[in-house]
Amino acid sequence: MTWKIVSLPGDGIGQEVVASATTFLTLLAEKLQLTLDIENHLFGGASYDVHGKMLTDETLEACKNADAVLLGAVGGPKWENLPHNEKPEAGLLKLRKELGLYANIRPAKVYNALSNASTLKQDVLQGTDFVVVRELTGGIYFGHPRGYDEEKGYNTMVYEKYEVERIAKQAFELARKRHHKVTSIDKANVLEVSQFWRHIVHDVHKSYPDVELVDMYVDNAAMQVVRDPKQFDVIVTSNLFGDIISDISGMITGSLGMLPSASLGDKYALYEPIHGSAPDIAGQNKANPLATIASVAMMFESSFNRPDIAKFIIEAIEKTLAKGYRTGDIMGEGGKCVSTTEITAHLIESFNEVYAAEHQL
Ligand SMILES: NC(=O)c1ccc[n+]([C@@H]2O[C@H](COP(=O)([O-])OP(=O)(O)OC[C@H]3O[C@@H](n4cnc5c(N)ncnc54)[C@H](O)[C@@H]3O)[C@@H](O)[C@H]2O)c1
Repeated sequence: MTWKIVSLPGDGIGQEVVASATTFLTLLAEKLQLTLDIENHLFGGASYDVHGKMLTDETLEACKNADAVLLGAVGGPKWENLPHNEKPEAGLLKLRKELGLYANIRPAKVYNALSNASTLKQDVLQGTDFVVVRELTGGIYFGHPRGYDEEKGYNTMVYEKYEVERIAKQAFELARKRHHKVTSIDKANVLEVSQFWRHIVHDVHKSYPDVELVDMYVDNAAMQVVRDPKQFDVIVTSNLFGDIISDISGMITGSLGMLPSASLGDKYALYEPIHGSAPDIAGQNKANPLATIASVAMMFESSFNRPDIAKFIIEAIEKTLAKGYRTGDIMGEGGKCVSTTEITAHLIESFNEVYAAEHQL
C-alpha cells in the first residue's frame, strides 16, 4: 500500500520544519517498511514569486489527488503589502475552502517534560490534555456582506444548519474516543447566530447520550482555559471563537512550536503546525519542528488509520524532551539547546529506541 503525501513547505520556517518532517518520515518509512510517496509543491509566497499566485491550479489538483497534505506555513514581510485577496492568507483560506476542510482539530497537550515551560503554574497545567474542534470554513471569516468605507466597517457572522451539524458530529465522535465530554463555546447571551448554534448542537447531542455536553460563553471559556484547563476534553466552537481559544490553549502548552493540527473535511485532510512562518528566526536552523512532527502523528491516526504509528511518534517526542533536548522557543533551566536539524536527529534516535523497546529488538 502506498500513501501519497503532498508536502507544501510554504515560506520562512515552514520550509525548515517540513524538511525536518520529511527526513523523519523517510526514515520512519524505511524502518516500518511503509511506502510513502512524498511530492513537494510550492505554496504561499514561494509560489507567488514563481507563478504570480499563492495557490496554483496544479498545486490544488495535486492536493486533491493525495491521501494527505502536509503544510508548513505561509507569509512574511515580502508579501505583506499585496492586496487583501492576493495575500498568502487568502491562498490558505482558498486551499481550506476548496478542499472542504471544515473541521480544524487542535490538541492542547502539556508534555510532562515541558510543564515548566509555560507562563502558567505547573500544578494548573500538569495533566492537561484537550482538543479544540474549530469550525473552519464558515462564520464571520466568510460571511457576506463585508467591507468598509469612510464611515463604517462590517462583517457578517452566519451559520447554516448543515455547517453546525457536521462540526458538532465531529466533536461528539472525537469525545467518544476520549473522555466523553464536549464543551460547546458560543456567545448565546448576545448573538442570535450563537443561539442557533446552541440549538443545533443540542439537537445533534440527542444521538450521543453517552457524551456529556456543557455550554459555555466564550468570555468565560477564555478565563476557564487558563484557570482550570484540566476540566476540558473536547471543545467545539465557531471559526472566530476557535481562532482565539486555540491560541490561548496554545500558550498553556509552552510554545506555538509544540502545537499540531489537522484540518478535516469529508474527502480531504491537511496537517499543519499552528504557528506561522516566523520571519524573525527563518533560515537560522532554530525552528522547533515538533509541532509539524506531531501533525504527522495526527496524519497517521486520522488519514492512514495507523494509531499505533501515531503513538510511537508521540512517545518519541516525549522521550526526546525527557532527554533534555530543546529548541530555543522551549528552552528552560537545565535543557540542552539544539538546532532544528539536531533535534530532528535526536527524535529519529528516540523513535528507534521506542520502536525497539516495543518490539523487544
Ligand atoms: N498557518 C499559517 O501559515 C500562518 C499562521 C500564522 C501566521 N502566519 C504568517 O506568518 C508570518 C509571521 O506571523 P507571526 O509572527 O504573527 O506568527 P508566528 O507563529 O510566525 O511567530 C510568532 C512567534 O513565535 C515564534 N515561533 C513560531 N513558530 C515557531 C517554531 N516552530 N519554533 C520556534 N519559534 C517559533 C516566532 O519566532 C515568533 O517569535 C505572518 O506573515 C503571518 O501572516 C501564517
